[in-house]
Amino acid sequence: MNILTVVGARPNFIKVAPLLRQFKRNDISYDLIHTGQHYDVALSQVFFEQLDIPTPDHYLGVGSGTHGVQTGKTMMKIEEILMEQDYDLVCVVGDVNSTLAAALAAVKLHVPVAHIEAGYRSYDMRMPEEINRVLVDRVSQLLFAPTETAVLNLINEGVSQERIFLVGNIMCETLLTNMSKMSRPSEIEEDEYVLLTAHRAENTDDPQRLRSILEGASASELPVLFPAHPRTVQKLGDLGLREWVEETSSIRIIEPLTYLDFQYALSHARVVLTDSGGVQEEALMHHVPCLTLRTNTERMITLQYGANTLVGMEASRIAAHLREALQGHRGSWPIPPFWDEHVSERIVGHIRQHSDLISIPSNDIIMP
Ligand code: UD1
Ligand code: UDP
Repeated sequence: MNILTVVGARPNFIKVAPLLRQFKRNDISYDLIHTGQHYDVALSQVFFEQLDIPTPDHYLGVGSGTHGVQTGKTMMKIEEILMEQDYDLVCVVGDVNSTLAAALAAVKLHVPVAHIEAGYRSYDMRMPEEINRVLVDRVSQLLFAPTETAVLNLINEGVSQERIFLVGNIMCETLLTNMSKMSRPSEIEEDEYVLLTAHRAENTDDPQRLRSILEGASASELPVLFPAHPRTVQKLGDLGLREWVEETSSIRIIEPLTYLDFQYALSHARVVLTDSGGVQEEALMHHVPCLTLRTNTERMITLQYGANTLVGMEASRIAAHLREALQGHRGSWPIPPFWDEHVSERIVGHIRQHSDLISIPSNDIIMP
């Protein structure tokens, strides 16, 4: 079997690290494409180095752009590769534009697609990632779900049950297999702190909303450490908010952290404020209370386990929840089923066992 795996953005790199190792262990031949959606060293190269991800066979250099430009350019370039070389399966992870572009390019050339992290739904179709999730799942032949709720979401959408596999959360495999390598990064000066991440388009592109989030966070009685995504840094500059943050708030903006440094920062935080998808899950794993700066989440399990609270984007509400969370303790919730070190093993096992499903059906009927 010859597999093509496609990555493009920070969370993708983290998710494929164990998968590629598992392919190698099982003598499965594969090629890796890096679309270049993320290109800064701090968002890309450091993850390849730290997580020992092999150098990609193809680097597409797609870069930033509108959704149409980024997705279209990526599709065009992946299509060229798929027309030159035969692959039995294209593996995609998560919900970024590179994920959608790869899945569409593949299925249109009748190359089957496997989606890792299938079935997450926020049901908010104004969110670019939700559009990507729904469409990628619709054209995938193997759907690897992280939770039971994700499985049910897919069944409710009419996906044939034989194609859905509850395998757990692959980010947890990366986390658990790297925990022992973490050490305190020099960027952390404080003994006690709140960690903040915010990069989602809905939050950064609306000046009022971004300001409101920062006002809410800065009500913290503890210092707030903010490893800021370049998108957010750019917006803070454009909106003239950076000076305000640096001079009048308790928020300390730092460069994006490497994977291991971020895991250290998260696991030692009193509380995390975030609009990230992956960080909600990692906070659950580290038993750190998470306040999510959104009104919905596709990571329903973090709410079900009491590890996460949706606090929205309004300053007073964020501040109130933060005060309350800082009075509490670390979380004592359990770890969800299959969020362990064996996720990639399960995925590869299913790929091997279900070669009958690895083809594009000509009668793919979705039940009403
Ligand atoms: C993307 C994903 C988002 C994911 C995030 C992970 C989509 C639609 N969004 O958002 O789901 O949570 O990655 O971090 O795919 N930029 C740089 N350097 C880089 C990359 C980006 O400066 O290496 C800046 C550019 O100004 C760019 C902006 O960030 O325009 C947005 O980048 P883009 O990849 O489009 O989306 P993200 O916000 O990173
Ligand atoms: N992350 C990191 N350094 C940082 C911020 C985040 O390594 O400074 C990691 C984090 O541990 C998580 C992943 O990036 O695994 C999440 O990516 P991001 O929040 O960019 O995307 P999302 O999960 O929202 O798609």
